[in-house]
Formats: sequence, structure tokens, C-alpha cells
Amino acid sequence: KNQIKFIKFFKMVKKNTCVFISGQGSNLKNLIFFSRDNIFPIKISLVISDNKNAYGLNYAKKFQIPYILINTRSKSYENKILSNLKKYNISFICLAGYMKMISNNLIRIYQKKIINIHPSLLPKFKGLNTFNRILKNKEKKTGCTVHYVNEKLDGGSTIIQKSFFIDKKDNELDLKRKTQKLEHRAFPEAIIKIFSQN
Ligand code: GAR
Repeated sequence: KNQIKFIKFFKMVKKNTCVFISGQGSNLKNLIFFSRDNIFPIKISLVISDNKNAYGLNYAKKFQIPYILINTRSKSYENKILSNLKKYNISFICLAGYMKMISNNLIRIYQKKIINIHPSLLPKFKGLNTFNRILKNKEKKTGCTVHYVNEKLDGGSTIIQKSFFIDKKDNELDLKRKTQKLEHRAFPEAIIKIFSQN
């Protein structure tokens, strides 16, 4: 009986979360999978994509999660984001392969409530095209970082990093595959870490 009460309690306090994507959505898929567990701290209540062709939208459809498309070239897109975050009562945001900058306004409103996953060991290799630069720089190690989002590109404080040693034979695709394998462990672990501290 107590166990049921305990599970219900966790179910009640799940944070309504919005996941932002731009592409493949493997991290979204992975977070959906984790969030279906009663004791995982978040519920994915909304998906936002700036790309109507993002493959990741299929996961929103398959798991019946509301999603909206935004056009970052339109003037009103920021309002569209804010009104939908409000509509779905969103209190936490995960950027999972979202390739646009988040506005300072949104960052202020969701102070310390927005996290991002990045395919390098930050502060190394901020920005785009990371795997190519990592190989050119002859790095021995690489990995992924989950961090809070602030106004600086890939600049907020780190929550979790996971790393691996680069093999001499590794090409960009190998690095991507190995990094994403770690991302799929790092993102849920970071979320558990955040909410077990609160
Ligand atoms: C992930 O590897 C993530 O680290 C990266 O995009 C990929 C998205 O994959 N993010 C960035 O580069 C952010 N600057 P996914 O769509 O399969 O989750």
C-alpha cells in the first residue's frame, strides 16, 4: 500500500516538460521512453520544432504528445512559444538537438529551468560542426555535456558530462554514434540529478 502511495506521489509531481527539437529526435525518443516510467521526474507534455520535416516529430505523433511548429523567421514565433508553454503549463524545458538560439526573454522567464545537450566536452567545441573540429584538433577524448542554458552559446553550468577515448580509426560518423550512445544515458541522468537535488 505504501509503495502505491509513493508511486502516486511521484506521478503527481512530474514536471510538465517541453522538448525542443530540429532533426532526428533520438534524444526525444529516449526521453519519452524514460518519462513513461512512473518515478522519472518529468512528463513530456509538449514538443516544439523549428523544422516541419524533423524526423523527431514522428515520435510526438506516435506517443500522442502535442507538438507545434515554429517558424523562427516570423516575427510572432516567440509569442507562439510563450503562449504554448503557458497553455501546457510547462515548468521545465529540454533542448534536444534544437539548432536555434533561445531568446534572452525565454531564458529569463525559465531561469535555471532550461537544459541542453551538446556533443562535446564543454567548454571545448562550443557551437556547430563539433565532430569535424574534434578530429582536426586531434583530441584524445570526447563526449557529451548536459548543461543549463544561459545567454551565452553553450555557456551555462554543467550538470553531467560523459566521455570516451577516441580511436585512431574513428571518423565523424563514428564519433557521432559513440557520442549519441552516451547522450542517451547522460540526458536522463542529468534530469534525475536535477530533481533529486530539489
Ligand atoms: C545531438 O547529438 C545533440 O548533442 C546535438 O544534436 C544532436 C541531435 O540528435 N546538439 C547540438 O549540436 C546542439 N548544438 P537527435 O536529434 O537525434 O537527438
